[in-house]
Amino acid sequence: MSDWLIQVEQLRVGYDESVALDEITFSLPKGGSLALLGRNGVGKSSLLLALMGHLKARKGRIAFDGVDITTSKAHKRTAQGIAWVPQERECFPSLTVDEHLMIAARPGPWTQERLYDYFPNLAARKNNLGNALSGGEQQMLAIARALIANPQLLLLDEPLEGLAPVIVEVLEETIRSLVSEHGLSIILVEQHPEFALNICDQCLILERGKIVHSSPSSVLMADTDTIDRLVGIRVI
Ligand SMILES: Nc1ncnc2c1ncn2[C@@H]1O[C@H](COP(=O)(O)OP(=O)(O)OP(=O)(O)O)[C@@H](O)[C@H]1O
Ligand SMILES: [Mg+2]
Repeated sequence: MSDWLIQVEQLRVGYDESVALDEITFSLPKGGSLALLGRNGVGKSSLLLALMGHLKARKGRIAFDGVDITTSKAHKRTAQGIAWVPQERECFPSLTVDEHLMIAARPGPWTQERLYDYFPNLAARKNNLGNALSGGEQQMLAIARALIANPQLLLLDEPLEGLAPVIVEVLEETIRSLVSEHGLSIILVEQHPEFALNICDQCLILERGKIVHSSPSSVLMADTDTIDRLVGIRVI
């Protein structure tokens, strides 16, 4: 057991010949949450892939709840308590909503019944196939599938991207309640900083594969010059 949920030290990952992330060092205490910000192509998704075990560490170390997971496979990290909502959602076209939840379920408070209460839109579509869902419903399913694994840490990759404003409002409220009411730790990748900084207590900004800013979210929220320079899109 450790006071730290996740500790990343000097992490380097890449694709073929290229290095996507380097010298990545940060940690998140238990119960903490982190907004991961930056423009297109700076390495945000690559960092989540590396934390989930889908992209191999070329250098450095990742510890989860005090246990070194640097070389652990993804399924082992899921069992240890990390779940991931991928940027592309990745719902299976030939499985029903029910089946998606059934295959991902692990023991814990998030059961299928509770998730259907939490996401009534999904309950109404429980027999629909993955390819017979709207974009918003697919995103809800991707979140529900991650929650039913009963994680301690949820990795969310641009969960609001490309969705209609009415669905964005529902999902913002869902993610907010996961952190504030259910005490879940999240790492939330966003290009729009306002939402992420309001929900998460800490933040990081990536630029060309490196951390260029790290602070409590309240500090960055007050520093609009840094937001404009390193993130770009600002509504606050
Ligand atoms: N499968 C891949 N093969 C080769 N290079 C990749 C691959 N995936 C990503 N990259 C490269 O790694 C870098 C980081 O990409 P990544 O997808 O992590 O960025 P991102 O911050 O999530 O971008 P976006 O905001 O567009 O989702 C980019 O230069 C990208 O071109
Ligand atoms: Mg991405």
